[in-house]
Amino acid sequence: MNKNQQEQLDHLKSMVSQSAVDFLNKFCEYLANQNPKYNWVGIYVLRNGKLFLESFKGKPTIHTEINLGDGLCSMAILKNSIINEPDVNSNSEYLACSLETKSELVIPIRMKDRPIGEIDIDSDTKNAFTHKDEDFLSEAAKTIEFFVAHLSDINDIKA
Ligand code: SME
Repeated sequence: MNKNQQEQLDHLKSMVSQSAVDFLNKFCEYLANQNPKYNWVGIYVLRNGKLFLESFKGKPTIHTEINLGDGLCSMAILKNSIINEPDVNSNSEYLACSLETKSELVIPIRMKDRPIGEIDIDSDTKNAFTHKDEDFLSEAAKTIEFFVAHLSDINDIKA
């Protein structure tokens, strides 16, 4: 590949990244607008061993980068499982974003069964999330796995 072709390829990749972020923004906004109990909806992407907040709808948070090991968001990645916390104030692992938040649901986004990111939802209502939310959001997560894989550094999982 010559230098010009490499530049074209880099440009194409950045176009896809921009489209991915645009789509994730619409995804978060749509879910927050359609579901009154979803007071904050965000997408964290796993990259270089950390979680990066790529998109959200709701109040800004200080947790734009999360080290694996910290908080409920990490737990979902490390356990590769859904975390449904009905009462965040009773869980010492919880990293607080907003005083209003009472419950939280974290849904892993996977590629080839490995977590590459997650949907994180906060609610101002205790016990907000049911198994129906878990199933619904697990299906919703599949619709964005390509975009999330592109934004993560593990988009070349072969196994
Ligand atoms: N509560 C999360 C941190 C992210 S904020 O909810 C946006 C956690 O415990 O990992």
